[in-house]
Amino acid sequence: MERVPTGISGFDELIGGGFPRGRSMLISGGTGTGKTIFCIQFLLNGATQYNEPGVYVTLDERPGLIREDMLQFGWDLRKLEDEGKLIIVDASMAKIGIPSSEEYSISSSGFDLDKLIVEIMRVSKEIGARRLAIDSLAAMGLHFSDQTSVRKAILKLNFMMMRTNLTTLATSEIPEGSNLFSKYGVEEFVADGVIMLHYLGIGTQSNRTLHIRKMRGTPHSEDIHPLEITKKGIKVHKVDEAYGI
Ligand SMILES: Nc1ncnc2c1ncn2[C@@H]1O[C@H](COP(=O)(O)OP(=O)(O)OP(=O)(O)O)[C@@H](O)[C@H]1O
Ligand SMILES: [Mg+2]
Repeated sequence: MERVPTGISGFDELIGGGFPRGRSMLISGGTGTGKTIFCIQFLLNGATQYNEPGVYVTLDERPGLIREDMLQFGWDLRKLEDEGKLIIVDASMAKIGIPSSEEYSISSSGFDLDKLIVEIMRVSKEIGARRLAIDSLAAMGLHFSDQTSVRKAILKLNFMMMRTNLTTLATSEIPEGSNLFSKYGVEEFVADGVIMLHYLGIGTQSNRTLHIRKMRGTPHSEDIHPLEITKKGIKVHKVDEAYGI
């Protein structure tokens, strides 16, 4: 099976070298657990280390803020965009119904899932993308009046992802401390893998964890791993590893 390494320190070895090519993964966790950083790191490493351009679709945060935040880790997304290795599709403005000033967006007349899918396909082709991140599925809820419609939308999106052969990460938010795996209870079933991120509280560096809840088609670590957000992004540690406390 062909693997798609994330390049995230300590992570790929937990899943046999990387995600299975062309599959879709759910990154699930509470707010501030590192879901966005994980996605960006996956795309950035793809573009810079593995010659795999990527597409990032933001439904939550404005692209300008993401570019700014990621500079903190030394990640110059604008440069990758200019080099044709990354495209950011802005679907964040659609929720308030005002036009985006971004080059790639779907906000001109409100949110439209079909338009978003067409745009993802179009821009993926434009740069020969191999990786995709959709951040977040939870935000899709804003655009539909009931849970059934959101679930249908997620299923539709997933169907599109299955046909593209893009290795895809999608994020979903869950309230911290809940036993759920995703916001709408359907995301984990359509994903081939589920990675849970947790934030346990305050204080020490070991208060973040990562746990692989499922990964179809490959053996994986079943431990709860300490996760650290460093100046260079996410690092995943072995359970018994001492690290800089
Ligand atoms: N430069 C940094 N160094 C260390 N930690 C950072 C840095 N920047 C952000 N963080 C941590 O990462 C968290 C944000 O991570 P991220 O945006 O990936 O979370 P998220 O899961 O996407 O959250 P949300 O649900 O709000 O979108 C911050 O709350 C902060 O704790
Ligand atoms: Mg986020």
